[in-house]
Amino acid sequence: MKLTDDILYIGVNDREIDLFEGQYVVPGGMAYNSYLILDGKTAVVDAVDARFGGEWLEKLSAALGARQPDYLIVQHMEPDHSGSVDAFARRWPEAKLVATAKAFTMMQQFFGDDYVNRRIVAAEGAELPLGRHTLRFLSAPMVHWPEVMVSYDAKEKLLFSADAFGKFGALDTDEPWTDEARRYYIGIVGKYGAQVKALLKKAGGLAIETVCPTHGPVLRGAALENALALYTKWAAYEPEAEGVLVAYSSVYGHTRLAAEKLAALLRERGCLVELRDLARCDLPEAVAQAFRLSRLALATTTYNADIYPAMKRFLDGLTERGFQNRRVGLVENGSWAPTAAKGMLKLLEGCKGLSFAEPTVTLRGALAAESEAQLTALADALAE
Ligand code: FEO
Repeated sequence: MKLTDDILYIGVNDREIDLFEGQYVVPGGMAYNSYLILDGKTAVVDAVDARFGGEWLEKLSAALGARQPDYLIVQHMEPDHSGSVDAFARRWPEAKLVATAKAFTMMQQFFGDDYVNRRIVAAEGAELPLGRHTLRFLSAPMVHWPEVMVSYDAKEKLLFSADAFGKFGALDTDEPWTDEARRYYIGIVGKYGAQVKALLKKAGGLAIETVCPTHGPVLRGAALENALALYTKWAAYEPEAEGVLVAYSSVYGHTRLAAEKLAALLRERGCLVELRDLARCDLPEAVAQAFRLSRLALATTTYNADIYPAMKRFLDGLTERGFQNRRVGLVENGSWAPTAAKGMLKLLEGCKGLSFAEPTVTLRGALAAESEAQLTALADALAE
């Protein structure tokens, strides 16, 4: 696939994977993107997962024709990209490897070789002339590992952005960008908002018309504008939309009924509402919804004098990723000693900028007159 006169897409689609990073369901598969610049010198930007190394090397070889690769630019050492670096290095022993110093340390860790006689250590702002194109390397630590760099081609106004602006899904999956990009960003990079902000600031000083990530489609025009606007919000932990995520876990259905009632009361008050059963939904998607919306209602059963495990996992998913700046309402259930609200507050105590809507709703088994009245008052407070 030709992206410009000199740049080809040579990535692969992974339709075999069940869990990306061992935890994220990817019904649409996954793409590991790689690019080839054919100039006076030839440069490959990023490799692919080892399981697809053979396919990638053949694609690369076909795209090169009679030429040899001069450089492999290794922007990120996570094995979904670097898994085939060593296979490349063995196949083309004359090619140079270009990466940050930290990335070469990781190559030693992964491959037992840091390619000392054929490496180019890319310092911040270093340039690699290829002929008509010159690549400029910019570090992007923690987007999403510490060794990451991105590469800018001023001739094409093009940024090779590593994991930034990626999404779940193979490239032949027909789906909108935003939902799977959000689930990918919040799940994988969400903790590192400050570092993403720093990269956006660096990129803001460059003329960029095209972004080539390591996952998902190449972004240009309106798609790139949309992605930049969303990344700006995600990196600042700002909600995308006014609305309430009602997230619940329930053992015999009484807490579920309370959550559904709260959702209905909120909708009556004009709120956009998303409702998730945390024991049955895709948890990373529910976490991403909590970051998308401005408000969050949590409803759960007391369990072993603590909170129900699915809710605990959900709250861990939020706190691990720096959840902050939201309004939160709490609903607890407990037949003899309801303590779930206290437990949820404890798990959320490290989150910055949360405000809690009153009252906390307490059920003692099924909804009753008193808890219904509390639920209505909570709906009023969350709808404000
Ligand atoms: Fe797609 Fe952080 O690797």
